[in-house]
Amino acid sequence: MKAILNQIVADATVHAKWLNTLSFMENAGARKISACEDPVRTDLLQLKHAAEEHRHAYYLKKQIGKLVVSGFEYYDEDSLLGGKSSIQYLHRLDVKTSRYLKQQFSLSGQYLRYAAYLFVTYAIEVRADELYPIYQDALNEAGSKVMVKSIILEEEGHLEEMVSQLKGFDTEWERHAQKILQIEADLFQDWIAALSKEVSCCDVNN
Ligand SMILES: [Fe+2]
Ligand SMILES: [Fe+2]
Repeated sequence: MKAILNQIVADATVHAKWLNTLSFMENAGARKISACEDPVRTDLLQLKHAAEEHRHAYYLKKQIGKLVVSGFEYYDEDSLLGGKSSIQYLHRLDVKTSRYLKQQFSLSGQYLRYAAYLFVTYAIEVRADELYPIYQDALNEAGSKVMVKSIILEEEGHLEEMVSQLKGFDTEWERHAQKILQIEADLFQDWIAALSKEVSCCDVNN
């Protein structure tokens, strides 16, 4: 992963595509959180989380301005790295997680949406906590003006918050969370494979 991030950071256009892709994913995550809010029973924690994910999308988009590039106003497929794989990653994770939870808990409607929000967001936070620090290391090594330190701090808080919400949801949450992490890991591998094709980096396990 570090090798591919070094490659990404080394080229301004590829780097801008990467930032746009992260911004797209953060925005998709923020919209998912907002979409599963109950009109009445939405608490401070959920509002904070949605607000911070929206901020990450905005912040990453703003970082593109530090690079000498143009043409990244929107989220057109050709301005993202990984194309369809990036666009569909979160949706695929959501669909597969919902299917698993439906089987395990016989949930439907708003309850299923809430459970999927808990487990999908948990898996994403675990991934974010791994990915952003490696990215920041690559930025430091390259002496880049782009920075994601403020995101790292907030993502750590999110993971703790999701764990406490999951504990309240089910006493056996960890067993189910392991399944969801496995689903996410498979999708992540596909995503990295798609990225590496574009970035001409052959070893995706580094
Ligand atoms: Fe985020
Ligand atoms: Fe987060």
